[in-house]
Formats: sequence, structure tokens, C-alpha cells
Amino acid sequence: MCGIVGYIGQDKATPFLIEGLSKLEYRGYDSAGIAVYNGETIRVEKSLGRLEVLEQKIKGNEPEGSIGVGHTRWATHGRPSDRNSHPHTDCTGKFVVVHNGIIENFMSLKEMLIEKGHTFRSETDTEVVAHLLEEVYEEGELLEDTVRKVLNMVEGSYALVIMSEHDTGKIVCAKQDNPLVIGLGEGENFIASDIPAIIQRTRRTYILSDGEMAVVKSDSVWVYNRDGVPITKKVFEVNWDAEAAEKGGYEHFMIKEIYEQPKAIRETMSARLAKDGSGISLNELKWTKHDLADIKKIFIVACGTAYHAGVVGKYYIEKLARIPVEVDIASEFRYRSPLVDKDTLAIVISQSGETSDTLAALKEVKAMGARTLAVTNVVGSSIAREADNVLYTWAGPEIAVASTKAYTTQLIMMFMLAVYMGQLNGKVAPERAAELVEALKQVPTQIHEMLEDVEPIKTFATKYGFNEDVFFVGRSLDYAVALEGSLKLKEISYIHAEAYAAGELKHGTLALIVEGIPVIALATQEDIYDKTVNNIKEIKARDAVVIGIALEGDKNIAKYVDHTIFVPRTNSLLAPLLAVIPLQLLAYYAAITRGCDVDKPRNLAKSVTVE
Ligand code: AGP
Repeated sequence: MCGIVGYIGQDKATPFLIEGLSKLEYRGYDSAGIAVYNGETIRVEKSLGRLEVLEQKIKGNEPEGSIGVGHTRWATHGRPSDRNSHPHTDCTGKFVVVHNGIIENFMSLKEMLIEKGHTFRSETDTEVVAHLLEEVYEEGELLEDTVRKVLNMVEGSYALVIMSEHDTGKIVCAKQDNPLVIGLGEGENFIASDIPAIIQRTRRTYILSDGEMAVVKSDSVWVYNRDGVPITKKVFEVNWDAEAAEKGGYEHFMIKEIYEQPKAIRETMSARLAKDGSGISLNELKWTKHDLADIKKIFIVACGTAYHAGVVGKYYIEKLARIPVEVDIASEFRYRSPLVDKDTLAIVISQSGETSDTLAALKEVKAMGARTLAVTNVVGSSIAREADNVLYTWAGPEIAVASTKAYTTQLIMMFMLAVYMGQLNGKVAPERAAELVEALKQVPTQIHEMLEDVEPIKTFATKYGFNEDVFFVGRSLDYAVALEGSLKLKEISYIHAEAYAAGELKHGTLALIVEGIPVIALATQEDIYDKTVNNIKEIKARDAVVIGIALEGDKNIAKYVDHTIFVPRTNSLLAPLLAVIPLQLLAYYAAITRGCDVDKPRNLAKSVTVE
């Protein structure tokens, strides 16, 4: 997820571009850049680092001109660096592009363009668009016509904002799966990924829809559909205040990120699904079955929510690839003299890619000869750079301290890795892989549907939000999700919550289950459903209040619990992705009920870079 701005009007463009990008840094902040047309040429200035690095770079020598675009980056392809920063240009420098999204067929396009003599300066997918514009451009052609030709060649998701010295006095935008807003001014117009960047200048906007293009001039904005037919857009008056706008109209980043999960999951899996639907292809790894055959043991090492994703990952890999897996909390792993050697694969999971305990464990296992693989959400992070291989989740920046979309994209990544391993070592037959992928593709829509109606969960949260003790129980994958649900509730509502393996309650903790205690019982795993129900009966016999999390169509559960939250029916292995959603929401609304600081809970930091 990146931040894009554009300006065309009578004023200087640079001040708006910088100010607008500063309002969008929550969308990405590993590098930034601007391009401004001064009446003769387009000047590009960009740099690695936060926006202030760029500001320092141009201080006293700001680009002149009243047409410009800007970008603040959240890297997906190509680590953060000066040359991977946007804007990107073609060989001549006469086409300038900023982009948010993923051009999925960029490798094949890049190869074609290199064969035609184009020279690339970056590792990004975006730069391909600039060279395509140069390649298909015909002398005297309108910029929007050149852009339309290119859009027919690229596949994937994009918010593209393009300028050219061949056709000045306009900026052309195109939107597919990534947001773009046009701000309507007087004698000036604005472009942005998101409303916070323009709200100080205008509240009258066009919200572009998928497939639409816009030609933005200082005194006009024309919007076209995919076929180039002009369409009349309705003006959307923004009535949010500036702070709410940064959260996209949501009250907190956490709830915004909970609602971003369908898109985050779709982005994380889209380029890794084999084109013929036959399974998973992880081009970042390019492992062979011999590579995998050399791995006798896998350790998954992480902290907090990432550790909980690792617990699910263990189930996935052992179930699908039949390779032994141990999961460890990073701060424990390092001090227990783990049995690691060259036949070991260590998988470290970290949203930030900067968690000290996890980074230290990674360095330790590398020194012991293990092969290492990082699953992280931050391109070019310390953990990404340290590991032999990296699988990036593409969740976009996660601002709230409580991890939500990072967790579900980590689960998706671990699931795809397990299927990929099973394909490689023959433990997952092609038809099984296809069946698993088919179920996987339904997950974003299923989560979207769950998020359409959160009232029952709000009710529970309000009703039980003032309880001082809550238990989460489950078996197998349900227990793994219970761990995450318990952490969510603890860290943002400050309620003491505990996750327990349902079968383990009778060995001690049942002593704490008394009348009125809320117990969240997860019962999505059909192979051990009856055992879980028996544990629920034990709990109910102590007059606790039990909220069941079960699969739609389960006609049995209501007999044993006080309330039920149903999740869409899916392959048991994928149930964690759905079962965690009500638990995230339960924690969120309980925290609201208790007046807690949801996005910045006490004592906690988003990235724990101390041991
Ligand atoms: C989870 O909600 C917390 N923010 C915390 O447990 C977090 O998951 C943990 O600190 C690990 O962070 P990382 O994924 O960035 O390594």
C-alpha cells in the first residue's frame, strides 16, 4: 500500500505534494519522491527513507512548476532504495509514473522491453509501465490514449498517476483495485490515494471506481470507463474531519485494518496461485524436491501474534507436507540449546521484520548452519535481509499495535508454503492441491461477508466487556486460534484472558471456571468436534457463560452453549482464518466498551526492537 498525490493548477505544485504525502505516510514510508513539470521538462526528486529525507534533499532548491505528482512507498517488489523509489520514468525521462498496487505480469513485460532495448534502473514492477508508455507512444498522441493502450497490456492491481512531456497540461490517472480520489478545486485540481491528502484543500471529490481513467487539467476533470467512453461522476462531499480521514473514515486504525483483511489476503495470495489453478507457485523460493528432501526438521520461531501464526503453520506443514515442525517463542528458543544443523529449516515470522528477539534467533540458527526463511510484511527489513529466503505478506502498513491483517496474511502465507512443500515432496497430490486452492480463493469473500454484520459481536463485547476474566478454549487448530483471540483481548482491552487447550482444562484450570465466567469455545474442527463438545459440557456444568464459534450449518452447537457466532463453512485447515475474525472484533469492541486506547494500548509498541 503506497501513498500517491498529484496537483495541477495555478500554484506551485511542490508544497501541496509534500504536504499531501505527509498525510499519507501511514500508507507507506520506506521512501518518497516527487516529479514536477516546470514548463519545459519534468524534474524528478526521490530518496530512500521517510518524507523528511526528501524534504531535506530539495530544501532551498524545490522543483518549480504547477503540475506534479508524488509518492510515498510501501515496498512490495524491490527493496527500499533511492532507485526503487517512485516516481519512475522511461528511458527518455518524458513519461513519469507513480503507482500503488502490483503489476502481476511485470516480469514478462520487462523481458519483452529489455529485448526491445529498454534500460531499466530499478527492480520495481512499476517501472515497466513507464517503458511501456514509451514503447507504444505514437508522435502527437494524447496521453490518455497512450495510457489506455498500456492498461490493456498490464495485469494486476493499480492506482496509476502519469505525466508526460509529450502532452503537458494534464495528469492521467487509472484505477484498478487500489484507491484514487480526485479533489475538485477552483482553477486547480488534486489527486490522491486517500482523502487525508486533499481534505485541507477541498472537500468536493470524485471517487474513481475500478476500470475508470481520469484526465485531470487545472480547469477540468474528465472521467472515462474502460472503453474510453466519458462518464458523469457524482461529486462526493467529504464530511469527515482530517483525523478521521487518515483512518479512511474508520474510528481507529485497528478496525480499518480488520476491514482491510479481504484485500490484504487477496493481494498476498494472488501472484502465488498457479495460473492454471493447479496449486501454489512460490517463485521467490524456486525450491526443488531435492532441496526439500534435504530438510529433516523445521523450526518456526516468532513472537506474539506472529508466534500464534507459527502454531497454525506447524499444523499446516505437518498435515500437508509431513515434515516435523517445532514452534518456539523467539525469546525462549535461543536459550534452550535447540538441535539445529544443516538439515534444519528455520522459518521466522515477523510483521515488522525488526523484532529483536526474532532477529537474534534468526542470526543464531544461521550460525548453527540452518537454512532460513523469513515471512515478513516489510520489504528490506532487518529480518528480510538476514534470511536466506523471504516470503513477503502484502498486507500493507499495519499501524495499530494489535496485529490483525498481518496475522491473517501470515496464516495464508504458511498455508501456501505448506501446500507448496507438499506439492514438491509429493505429499499433496495435484487434485488435492487444486481443491485446497479453490477453498483458499473463497476466503477473502467469506471474511468480507462476515464483516458485513458485526452487531452480534458488538452486543457480546458490550455485555461481557467489563468482565475481568475471560477464557478461550479449543482443540487442534481451534486452540491455535484461541491463543490469538486471548492475546487480542488482553492487549487492547486489558481484560485478563487465557487460552487453553480444551482437553487440558480438567487438569487444573477448570478450578477457575465458575458461574458467569465468559468462555469463548471454538468448535470448527470437525475431526475432534465431539471431544470439544464434551469439554463445553464440562464448562457449562460449572455455569459459565459459553459463546461458541462454529461453522455455519452446525445444528448441534446451540444445545450446549449460551450464544453462537457462526463462521462460513470452509476446509477445516482454513477455518482459523475465519474463526479469528469474531475474536478480533470481540477484542476491539470490548476495548471500546472499556474506553481503552485501541490503536496505542498501554505499555506496548508496534515493533519491539529491544530484547
Ligand atoms: C500482536 O498484536 C502484538 N502487536 C505483538 O504480539 C506482535 O505480534 C509481536 O511483537 C511480534 O511482532 P512482529 O510480528 O513485528 O515480529
